[in-house]
Amino acid sequence: MHYKNLEPSPSSLMESLRDIGYSMETALADIIDNSITAEANNIDIRFSWNFEKPWLAIQDNGYGMTDDELLYAMRLGSDNPLSERKENDLGRFGLGLKTASFSQCRQLTVITKKNETLSSMEWDLDQITDNPSDGWKIKILNGEDLNKLSEIYDLIETLTKQVSGTIILWRKLDRLDSFDSPIIREKKLNSLIDSSRNHIELIFHRFLNAGAGNKSLKISMNGDQIIGIDPFNSSHIATLELPKQSIYVNSKEITVQPYILPHYTKVSAQDYAKFSGEGGYLHNQGFYVYRNKRLIIKSTWFRLMPKVELTKLIRVRVDIPNSLDHIWKIDVKKSNANPPESVRKGLKQIISEVEYSGKRVFKQKGYRLKSKVLEPVWDRTIASGKVTYAISKSHPLIDTFKATLNEGSQRDFINILKSIESSFPSDLYFNDFANSPERVEKPLISEEELTNIIKIFIQVYLIGCDSKGTLVQKLIQIEPMASSPKMTQKIINEMEITL
Ligand SMILES: Nc1ncnc2c1ncn2[C@@H]1O[C@H](COP(=O)(O)OP(=O)(O)O)[C@@H](O)[C@H]1O
Ligand SMILES: [Mg+2]
Repeated sequence: MHYKNLEPSPSSLMESLRDIGYSMETALADIIDNSITAEANNIDIRFSWNFEKPWLAIQDNGYGMTDDELLYAMRLGSDNPLSERKENDLGRFGLGLKTASFSQCRQLTVITKKNETLSSMEWDLDQITDNPSDGWKIKILNGEDLNKLSEIYDLIETLTKQVSGTIILWRKLDRLDSFDSPIIREKKLNSLIDSSRNHIELIFHRFLNAGAGNKSLKISMNGDQIIGIDPFNSSHIATLELPKQSIYVNSKEITVQPYILPHYTKVSAQDYAKFSGEGGYLHNQGFYVYRNKRLIIKSTWFRLMPKVELTKLIRVRVDIPNSLDHIWKIDVKKSNANPPESVRKGLKQIISEVEYSGKRVFKQKGYRLKSKVLEPVWDRTIASGKVTYAISKSHPLIDTFKATLNEGSQRDFINILKSIESSFPSDLYFNDFANSPERVEKPLISEEELTNIIKIFIQVYLIGCDSKGTLVQKLIQIEPMASSPKMTQKIINEMEITL
């Protein structure tokens, strides 16, 4: 018996790897994973139609690669998926960079900087296909070659100034070719980028909106910063956070945090729509599985229960460590995973309890959430089919102030309020909100302003409070404190109050 060396044909292997089912969204997310693993806190995505020669680049300020490391990174399958990875590593098969890139383009150029040295290499599928006898030859770029990359001239310049970092450049975006006319292709590119933005907002929301004390990540797209979307609307006071539970597998912990999102009567119509997600609440109920804080699978009950109307507000956050990849059968694209039987059992038990609470919120409209805004500043009324928004004249802040005025001033004050409510720029607001809800913000209230407001309320609400805690509980049910519960708590804690 003897053996013969039988290498795969580079061109057919490369071509078939292109079709393992990445989309623009999942491909971009895979490149971002690498940047996060490389400890980047700034990622800049740029793209241009470039007169029918479109390109897309992702630049990070992570730890970059040396020449040797880059060579290794460009190899197909650069790491053994069975070896245990560092805890914060979002990679798995050593394929992502190449397969994700080639799923979208035929020319992949990587420029990276580490230890004061710039390195750059390039795979061009056309080169490989045209020269079959050359095998796996990769192009090593020199300074002169870099100068020719005029598209990303400024990105390279930024990289040169950074201590370290990496640029991934995709050219020959041939997936757009099937769309005949240039105008349609350009439109297609733009819509792919739009859906990628939506995908990134959700997939990386825990990095983008990292809470206090956590390192946060900034991602921008052609200069526009991306704001994360928390599918649990967890900072809203009407969101119910049920007790967190754990499931242990091979002594590794999986944490399960169920949320019940606010019933539509408890939030603004805009918020209700914003958090419904693509496809609506009914579709988006279910488990949201995170691997190292990165969302890998969303809105599925893993066939443990059906998606019905009564449970549509339930979303359950599941955190799994990357050391359990093998049992969850994470695929290369990290867009799919399946829980093993032992975990399914644990999840089943947890959701049967959650299901009950979720149905209760939904069924009983009068069901009192522990925290609900009691005194809205704006009243929404429906009369003979028409909806009107008006400033609540009985709101304590307005009522208390009005009482300090003489009769003439009281009339003026009410007139001012009326002219504000009747001239709200609803057309502009609606337009802004419909186009990009993430960019519409309420005017910020400063700590000083909130402190003054709280002082007014305390006179009324201190009665019957036996601790600062109960006072905070009362106040955060009232606007404007309800919108800034954390600041309210801080102010009360620092205030000298005799109870
Ligand atoms: N942006 C980056 N910064 C630093 N190193 C990177 C970057 N992208 C890729 N690499 C290196 O290339 C290797 C291969 O990446 P990839 O093909 O995505 O596989 P995986 O992420 O599974 O390891 C990574 O393990 C990492 O060492
Ligand atoms: Mg990777």
